[in-house]
Amino acid sequence: MSLFVTFEGPDGAGKSTQVRLVADLLRKSGTHVVLTREPGGTPLGERIRSVLLDPGECAIVPRAEALLMSAARSQHVSEVIQPALEDGAIVLCDRFVDSTLAYQGAGRGLSVPALTKLQEFAVESLKPDLTILLDLPPSSGIQRRRESGIPLNRLDEDDLAFHQRVREWYVQEARQHPERWTVLDATRPEGELAVEIAELIRVRGRTGELNAGTNRVSG
Ligand code: TYD
Repeated sequence: MSLFVTFEGPDGAGKSTQVRLVADLLRKSGTHVVLTREPGGTPLGERIRSVLLDPGECAIVPRAEALLMSAARSQHVSEVIQPALEDGAIVLCDRFVDSTLAYQGAGRGLSVPALTKLQEFAVESLKPDLTILLDLPPSSGIQRRRESGIPLNRLDEDDLAFHQRVREWYVQEARQHPERWTVLDATRPEGELAVEIAELIRVRGRTGELNAGTNRVSG
């Protein structure tokens, strides 16, 4: 059974931890899981990631930022995500298309319809079967990042209003598409969250088997 699950949310919501914990839980029950992240996930993607995120790397205008995120994503879909899905894996991806719409669209103010078209081109209309929004007020997210000792990246350093717009876009999108999105409070204990997400994925996997691959449009 293949399933494409994406994790989204403001910076510092604990997505990377959840992706890891959920992968461990699913693997314990013998499921084939592929864990990956954006920007990155491939050798090219990781190089683009450094250019995009390392503070002081070089100035990047919003359109270039959107194109670089999308270029990394295109490589990621062809090289990792699509082959894993064809192989019957559950793919857990830390950020995907929705991050570009939230950060470069709502955050930077680029046209969301134009970015949506760009995404269709980049990923050949691949859509997640399930998207988990780990929701958190942006001020707490940045605070968590500082406390965890993880160095802040170039986007973490954007102002609070930017991160508010990103969060609002996520919340609104999730409200409009409840069939794909599940919103969870990121401040809950991480073990408890992981168990709930793993269960959501199992249930979605079972229903997915009944409606085999309805979200996978390509062309
Ligand atoms: P990362 O260190 O992975 O942070 P997080 O744990 O919050 O995901 O950095 C990824 C950063 O890149 C994050 O600030 C969101 C941003 N981003 C975009 O702006 N657009 C995108 O399309 C993607 C995938 C990420």
